[in-house]
Amino acid sequence: MESMEETTCKVYALIPAAGSGVRFGSSENKVFAPLLGRPLLGWTLQAFADCDAVDAVIIIGSEPDLPRLREIGEQFGGGKVVGVVTGGGTRQESVRLGLSAIPETATHVAVHDAARCCVTPELIAHTVVAAKNSHGAATAAYPVSDSLARGERNNTLQSGAGIALLGEYVDRAALWSVQTPQTFDAALLRHAHQYALDEGLAATDDASFYQRYFFHVAIVPASPENIKVTRPEDLELAEAILARRLAKSSSTPSVSTFRVGHGYDVHQFAVGRPLWLGGVHFVESPVGLLGHSDADALLHAVCDALLGAAGMGDIGVLFPPSDMAHKDRRSIEFLDEVKARLDAEGWRVGNVDISVLAEMPKIAPRAGTIRETIAVSLGISADAVSVKATTNEKMGFVGRGEGIAVHATVLIQR
Ligand code: CTP
Ligand code: MG
Repeated sequence: MESMEETTCKVYALIPAAGSGVRFGSSENKVFAPLLGRPLLGWTLQAFADCDAVDAVIIIGSEPDLPRLREIGEQFGGGKVVGVVTGGGTRQESVRLGLSAIPETATHVAVHDAARCCVTPELIAHTVVAAKNSHGAATAAYPVSDSLARGERNNTLQSGAGIALLGEYVDRAALWSVQTPQTFDAALLRHAHQYALDEGLAATDDASFYQRYFFHVAIVPASPENIKVTRPEDLELAEAILARRLAKSSSTPSVSTFRVGHGYDVHQFAVGRPLWLGGVHFVESPVGLLGHSDADALLHAVCDALLGAAGMGDIGVLFPPSDMAHKDRRSIEFLDEVKARLDAEGWRVGNVDISVLAEMPKIAPRAGTIRETIAVSLGISADAVSVKATTNEKMGFVGRGEGIAVHATVLIQR
């Protein structure tokens, strides 16, 4: 029976890691070299783990390295490493052996040197997309920027026998430094490797076979940062590149979501009731407001604005007047509870702006206290709470002194 991977994974990554790192000169495979707290290969695998365009990863290693490669695969492969297979004496042979471990159902294969640990998920995805949109193959490459010339040996110089001299210059305008990842149509890459084997053709990458036997390979312009760690000094360069990326990503503020909300409430004046507005008791007022709770229209408008911004309904839903538990309750408790609900969803209050429409009482002398009261309940500075008031120029129900209307606008953020 086919495993899950075989039926659902379409794009495989092959990571050749079976070299011996002769030029790197260490006693063990360079892909294990410590790099910013993890083995070099861990960084390479992380990029594939973070790349949605790749479904599964197979690592190719030399026999004695397999247990350690498996461990690193589990630790940094994001659950995508479905195989660790034995490679061969050359990179070409290693890739060919890796290809035979990929199921027939795979559509594309992204081959990427384990030693290129600064590869990004974006670059991998670009090669996959470019391969799909072109003749079935795409490679990362970087336009050559140095002048290029052939080297010539000249043994006639007295100063140094065997010294290399500049020979013919090569026009660099059309030259690319070919990197990996290289993504291919899976079936065609298999054929290309088989033909190369039959023909006894050797090459250091896979794109060269593909274009010899099939079609042109699309170029995905890459960064010079996509280096292959080959010599010891390359490790320092890789470390600098990765460390700079890490510093950049940790200093980038996360994207915030902002929401605004508006609340409106109106209550009728009633003789014999205390007047509460903005959580403040207007003791001198001969009238209060009619309502189930303390009828604090100002705080009700603020609650509705906050609930509206957070998409959490309104105050009537949260504290229904039909519920006797809320009878004569202080509305500041409603605001405290609304704040707790916003907290639970990760919302922070930015600011609150309130407009009171009333012929009486005079709000301005108490505005500071109201701002403080609301600020304390919402855990913000009083600067972020504004309370304004206006009469209604004797017009309408407010103008006739029948009641008070309040508008509130809020900004919330998470
Ligand atoms: N590779 C491989 N099998 C081989 C040789 C190389 O899988 N027989 C892999 C390497 O592990 C490396 C990639 O191919 O990730 C690119 O090869 P290279 O940079 O040349 O690595 P090494 O062969 O290990 O280094 P050197 O040539 O200096 O010995
Ligand atoms: Mg090599």
